[in-house]
Amino acid sequence: AGAGAAAALGASAAIRAGDEAAGTPDAAVGAAVATANAVGEAIVPFHGVHQAGIETPPQAHALFIALDLLPEVDADALRRMLRVLSDDAARVTQGRAPLADTEPELAEVPARLTVTFGFGPGLVARARSEAPAWLRPLPPFGIDRLEPRWNDGDLLLQLGSDDAITVSHAARMLLKDARSFATVRWSQRGFRRAAGAEPEGRTMRNLFGQLDGTVNPKPGTTEFDELVWSAGQPEWMAGGTSMVLRRIAMDLDGWDRVDRPGREASVGRRLASGAPLTGESEHDEPDFAALGPVGFPVIPDFSHLRRSRSEEPGERIYRRGYNYDEAPAGASVSDAGLLFASYQADVDRQFVPIQRRLEELDLLNEWTTPIGSAVFAIPPGCAEGGYIGDTLV
Ligand code: HEM
Repeated sequence: AGAGAAAALGASAAIRAGDEAAGTPDAAVGAAVATANAVGEAIVPFHGVHQAGIETPPQAHALFIALDLLPEVDADALRRMLRVLSDDAARVTQGRAPLADTEPELAEVPARLTVTFGFGPGLVARARSEAPAWLRPLPPFGIDRLEPRWNDGDLLLQLGSDDAITVSHAARMLLKDARSFATVRWSQRGFRRAAGAEPEGRTMRNLFGQLDGTVNPKPGTTEFDELVWSAGQPEWMAGGTSMVLRRIAMDLDGWDRVDRPGREASVGRRLASGAPLTGESEHDEPDFAALGPVGFPVIPDFSHLRRSRSEEPGERIYRRGYNYDEAPAGASVSDAGLLFASYQADVDRQFVPIQRRLEELDLLNEWTTPIGSAVFAIPPGCAEGGYIGDTLV
């Protein structure tokens, strides 16, 4: 050990000598700063056919805010509000301070900031327009223990960025401008791994330690386009989608009492690799027909994998969830879970049948409890000079 320590000391002395020779304070630190700037300066376009924040590879931090419109907000006021908020979003996502920004320096680090707008049934009614048939609270499920403080809303603001200060600042700017039209109903913060903490494209881990998001339609493919983007029912939704946000509490203490084989059986995948119990690597196709030594299916019939997968090709959704971890109350040591966010062209045709199957049978239900639920229509994107919702009102 002594020789190892001496070698390490020698190595660091060599680094110092090298730095002095190069005339830089520390080459290694310099490289880290360059990477950090790349994260901070990255920009996602705001204008386009679809809103940003759905196909965008998930950023590290998310904030979902639902607002209730004030009673006096009519179609004209709605138009004014959406214009102002779209302008704020168009600026702040591009690293520019919105009008009347009192902390403009905070806008200088977009870090892939996206602002995505969603409309609840109340907002569409104020616009006096036709709503998609699925735009209403989900039907009740037997597993639900919904707390009204996490449900519904007229207007959704979904913010995502690889920097948490950026999210706070953008939210503050939007909420200040929304203040004369709406009040905050709820706000939910979520996180994934920090940008650069893992190689790009790695599936996220949830707080149960599972790889979560393995089987998902791939943005930019025809399959994704068909499953996620609305063809226009009603017409103003063309290029839009729907979002289901479920706040799902995860009982980490209960999960602690389950051994590794039990945990793996409950999902039907291995914890380390995410591989199906019948495979070797994460993206291997599961073999539901494979039987174990005593004749039971290797991937149990009650597993989340078995139950969430549909035989019906159209019955699929795009999942883009976030972890949450809040201050525990009373004697408990955690208040954690998943902000389950899914996007699909039609909630009734795609999301509801999956949730019904999971309600009937899914071993994961032992440790997961939906405590919040909201459905929003995500309108299409807008062109420069337009505003989000300009096809509606
Ligand atoms: C797959 C976890 C809730 C739908 C998975 C997988 C995990 C997981 C570990 C396997 C890896 C993957 O493909 O992502 C969880 C946890 C939940 C939860 C911890 C709650 C806290 C839900 C809900 C739905 C859902 C509410 C929909 C109603 C799916 C679907 C798949 C999946 C569609 C992919 C199935 C396939 O392989 O075809 N989930 N999930 N999950 N989950 Fe969940």
